[in-house]
Amino acid sequence: MLERLQKIISAAGVTSRRASEALIVNGQVAVNGVVVTELGSKADPSKDIITIDGKALKISRVRLYILLNKPTGYITALKDSQNRPLVTDLLKEVPERVYPVGRLDYNTEGLLLLTNDGEWANRLMHPSHEIEKEYHVRVRGKVIDQQLKRMAEGVELEDGMTAPAVVNLVKSGEQNDWISVTIHEGRNRQVRRMCEAVSLSVVRLKRIRYGSLELGTLRAGKFRFLSEAEVRQLAGQPTTVFSNKSDKSDRSEKREKPARFIKTERPQKSGGTVRGRRQ
Ligand code: URA
Repeated sequence: MLERLQKIISAAGVTSRRASEALIVNGQVAVNGVVVTELGSKADPSKDIITIDGKALKISRVRLYILLNKPTGYITALKDSQNRPLVTDLLKEVPERVYPVGRLDYNTEGLLLLTNDGEWANRLMHPSHEIEKEYHVRVRGKVIDQQLKRMAEGVELEDGMTAPAVVNLVKSGEQNDWISVTIHEGRNRQVRRMCEAVSLSVVRLKRIRYGSLELGTLRAGKFRFLSEAEVRQLAGQPTTVFSNKSDKSDRSEKREKPARFIKTERPQKSGGTVRGRRQ
């Protein structure tokens, strides 16, 4: 089937749709050996040989969507100059190369999505999508409502004010408190920096939700494939999904039945939300 070149390139996970357009305009893309610089040009990914800077584009016909419970001590990258363990080391049985959707810090654990569908990943990461990400944070000592309120309303970071967030006190222990922080931005080390800004020291940070997807009881280091309904629900549009039926992923997880798009509650646009109890 003929498709626009920029769509084929971004779907292959090479780069975003816009950056793919730049590759075309810059004369870096060729179809069957002929350089194509006109935007809107089409090709058939099942027949045509598409190259970028002379290198053939690898097009996978199998699209994989994975939810991994990332343990601490793994890096969200495809290679590391310090030779630290990579999240993809946990996906050895996955037959295709998959890429992380966004990132979690080396010491952050929890829900991480990976896919070889670049277009889907770009759609999820686009700021206009404002997908909610919920984190559980263990902080040293006791939190006070004023700290939660400031985080919820927005704190000044070196790259600007954070948007309003939803911040709750989840559990109070002898030495530590657990708070939940829900944000829809995706800035680097954002939750850690928000905590630092209100003098909270992070002991543990775990992402427990990404949009409508919850980590649930999936064990650390295990992964599962998303259902077709989950893939569509997250991106908010129809997608055909294929998954490897012989996977050895954790299959103990309850699978979501095909469902319609579920609207999740957004953090308030102004003011933020706090549910705590100390003054
Ligand atoms: N916020 C952080 O500070 N770290 C992460 O890994 C994710 C969100």
